[in-house]
Amino acid sequence: MRFRRSRHLFCYWRDDELIVGDYRRRTAVAVDPVVVELLSACDDWCGVADVVAELAGYETETVEAAMLSLCHNGLLDSGEPAAEVEEAMTCWRGWEPEAALFHFGTKNANYGPSTAELRAELAGGAPVELFKSYPDAERMVLPRTPVSLREPFGDVLYGRRTHRSFAARPVPLQIFSTLLAAVFGPVAFVDGDEFGALALRTSANGGARQESECYVAVFEVAGVEAGLYHYNALEHSLELVREEVSREAVGELCAGQPAIREAAIVVFLTAVVGRVSAKYRDPRAYRVMLLNAGHVGQTFALAATALGLGAFTTAAFADEEVEALLGIDGVGETVLYVLAAGVPKDLRDGFPEGRAPAGLSAFRRRAQP
Ligand SMILES: Cc1cc2nc3c(=O)[nH]c(=O)nc-3n(C[C@H](O)[C@H](O)[C@H](O)COP(=O)(O)O)c2cc1C
Repeated sequence: MRFRRSRHLFCYWRDDELIVGDYRRRTAVAVDPVVVELLSACDDWCGVADVVAELAGYETETVEAAMLSLCHNGLLDSGEPAAEVEEAMTCWRGWEPEAALFHFGTKNANYGPSTAELRAELAGGAPVELFKSYPDAERMVLPRTPVSLREPFGDVLYGRRTHRSFAARPVPLQIFSTLLAAVFGPVAFVDGDEFGALALRTSANGGARQESECYVAVFEVAGVEAGLYHYNALEHSLELVREEVSREAVGELCAGQPAIREAAIVVFLTAVVGRVSAKYRDPRAYRVMLLNAGHVGQTFALAATALGLGAFTTAAFADEEVEALLGIDGVGETVLYVLAAGVPKDLRDGFPEGRAPAGLSAFRRRAQP
């Protein structure tokens, strides 16, 4: 029988145990550290005798038993299925190990029944603040005279496009204020039993923990001084985080993208991790957090469109530098998404500047076989 080390191994220490696993097969076992040497010896297809020769001092039977056990636990490949697995895994190659570890490691979540005991245990911890505020910050309470969002839904849905350049005109205050309230403001509270009152927003939110917070760099909003603010969703106010914030600096934090440098406002969407982890212990909840951020991003883009603005969203940003700018630790609260908006330039053929409809030549260029 021929063996080879799996190409998808990971290892870590948990307390005093060394855990080695295969993220594609979703296996993980506690092993003696000498197993690492054995796995190292199985870099390419080999037999038990090759490994015995390389690891001097071990009996053949011991090595064979260990290799069969590692094979059983998916840490060693043996035979043909390995080739098929490798072929299927080629699309993940550039993302390994980080993204693959997360993706495969959070498959098949344990959605056991929610017993009264479990709920009591989860709810028994210290209460987690569901709204963040900066009580000592200078603040500007925003007007509560919402601009109508009664545009025909179809016009908004089909009219939403990603805008990468904006007119140099200020966003009216009421439009800005309506946008923040429509995306981040609570719209109702429900009775969450052990978890108390849970806020609802216009976006669906797995777990209804409303973990996202909004920080907004204001560059061109009528009646609002430029600066970086935290949006206090409960109070509907802007809390000043820092006065000096330049378009160039924020643009640089987002891979130098011109859309960010031209936008009237740039929102940094963060997630307060403890709001979710206090209720959901399974790591799959992290997936839900990312999905939730996507929902908020789409609501932002649709609300901006309905308010006559153009929206731009990006995941291209320097996380730790953004977190330093916001003054958050990147651990308990972490940035997930950047959303920007401004007064749009006129569309041409229904497309923003820089985009043109695909004609026959575009379809021909990469024609399907
Ligand atoms: C999560 C996410 C990240 C994106 N990141 C970028 C980006 O970094 N730069 C960019 O120019 N567009 C970015 N976009 C915009 C997409 O390129 C755009 O949605 C796509 O080309 C389709 O165009 P449409 O939004 O007008 O339908 C992003 C969109 C999403 C949803």
